[in-house]
Amino acid sequence: MLKLKQRIAETLAETLASMTPEPVPAADELATLLEYPPNSNMGDLSLPCFRFAKVMRKAPKMIAEQIAATFTCQGVASVSAINGYLNFKIDPAYYATSVLPEILEKGADYGKLNIGEGKTVVLDYSSPNICKPFHIGHLGTTVIGHSIRLTHEFMGYNCIGINYLGDWGTQFGKLITAYRKWGSKEEVEKGGIDYLVDIYVRFHAEAENDPTLNDLARYEFHKMEEGDEENIALWNWFKEISLEEYEKTYRQLGITFDSYLGESFYTDKMPAQVQKLREMNLLKIDDGASIVDLEAYKLPPCLILKRDGSTLYPTRDIAAAVYRKETYDFDKCIYVTANQQSLHFAQWFKVVELMGYDWHDQLVHVPYGTISVEGVKLSTRHGNMLLLRDVFAAAIDKVSEIMATKSPDLPDRDKVAEEVGVGAVIFYYLLGGIGKDSSFVMSDALSFEGNTGPYAQYTYARTCSILDRAGEIGEGEIKLTAPEECELLKTLSRFSECVLRAMKEYEPSNITRYILDVAAAFNRFYHECPILSAESEEVKNTRLLLTKATNTVLGNALPLICLKTPRKI
Ligand code: ARG
Repeated sequence: MLKLKQRIAETLAETLASMTPEPVPAADELATLLEYPPNSNMGDLSLPCFRFAKVMRKAPKMIAEQIAATFTCQGVASVSAINGYLNFKIDPAYYATSVLPEILEKGADYGKLNIGEGKTVVLDYSSPNICKPFHIGHLGTTVIGHSIRLTHEFMGYNCIGINYLGDWGTQFGKLITAYRKWGSKEEVEKGGIDYLVDIYVRFHAEAENDPTLNDLARYEFHKMEEGDEENIALWNWFKEISLEEYEKTYRQLGITFDSYLGESFYTDKMPAQVQKLREMNLLKIDDGASIVDLEAYKLPPCLILKRDGSTLYPTRDIAAAVYRKETYDFDKCIYVTANQQSLHFAQWFKVVELMGYDWHDQLVHVPYGTISVEGVKLSTRHGNMLLLRDVFAAAIDKVSEIMATKSPDLPDRDKVAEEVGVGAVIFYYLLGGIGKDSSFVMSDALSFEGNTGPYAQYTYARTCSILDRAGEIGEGEIKLTAPEECELLKTLSRFSECVLRAMKEYEPSNITRYILDVAAAFNRFYHECPILSAESEEVKNTRLLLTKATNTVLGNALPLICLKTPRKI
């Protein structure tokens, strides 16, 4: 639809220019003003004329009527003026000769644009603190981050996904101390990350009564900083164990990263930035600590060095941003985290600006609200935390149960149950805006009938099964005979715009909601229009091509929000 919008906008720009000597909006701007009316009886596209009234010194109603009187544009069947709106009806021939052939021809590339060509985007997401399993909060950064990455890639950007592991700090001194005191190689090998959490929790409990444990932990971390081989070896081992656990989740989500350079990597890169801050007179000593005063910007001070001279979270982020700029020469560096960290990002972004880095405005923080899921047990071992793997496991179990009765003969049932169960959680989460706190009940997310992931994936599988049954699709003229067919094509033609919007707004829900629109349009078409038993060969072929086009768009759209596309459910 982008192309047609552009064409309409160009004609509109000419018409407007001929009506007044005053400057009028250019075609590109007009294209963005074209809306989809809520009810297609009012037209397929509409343009509110209110904003032209001032410049043209005319009532919007008159402007609309005047344009409608002469407007013609290829692809537009008719134009009407109603109460200051121009309503365009799209010519069905446009769908038959332009939209459908384009989807079929482009296939997996349909919807892609190349606006990002030659530009690089770095994305920092997921980034767990190692030695702790993923909890439900990590779902946000992981799937939002990956979806933002994929939408950028879809639009032609070169993307670098970075998992900025939280792999440095005194907590590793604690873990090493705990391991030496109570742990054993065998137990770590057997118990994995859960065992590491157990001894870490025990460390805290015992340190309450024996504060010398904390001194010991600090000492072990200090040794790590000095490069002590034994401690570094232990730390590497714990890191590997954590990564193995995370990889299980990443595999379920189909996520890979280009870099796992975590906080530890920047240890030797911070001094240069601290030095620069000092030379620029940006550091102030406050109660022994070094800070950057941000009062002039109505922000609390940014902590750079503790009293003992050790570095902090913002110090590392500054060094990492400089390193990434030098390494990737990014056009944008996007950080996806919970909104509790918004202040942290606002502070250090400001410090980067004060340091004179002219790329400070290429740093973007995308915050998301808290997530809670009802209907899954909390993990008592992890301090009553809701673990992501427990959420996924509960979803997969439930889907397996449903599928055991619904599709007992399905090959690969376990794999499909995993794809549908995990997908259900993601889909439901990504349906609301990411900025708001989200809370949902597991059984709602799993319903095969509601506005859910299973329903979307099921619709995709339905298109696959129709196409499989049909075999080869015959050649011949495209013949649209029912309004549901045009509505479906209209929905399919909006795909590119939806992805573009999701990308620009850092808001995957644009895609999730779009997928539901496609599923609804397809299911209406499916119920109203017989496909394999259509009245003529031409109509049948056309409907099969429509099914194929839906299959293409859903197949392109679902992965953009981290959902898999099983062909049979
Ligand atoms: N490791 C942090 C956490 O789990 C998130 C890191 C976000 N990225 C960054 N560059 N600060 O809270």
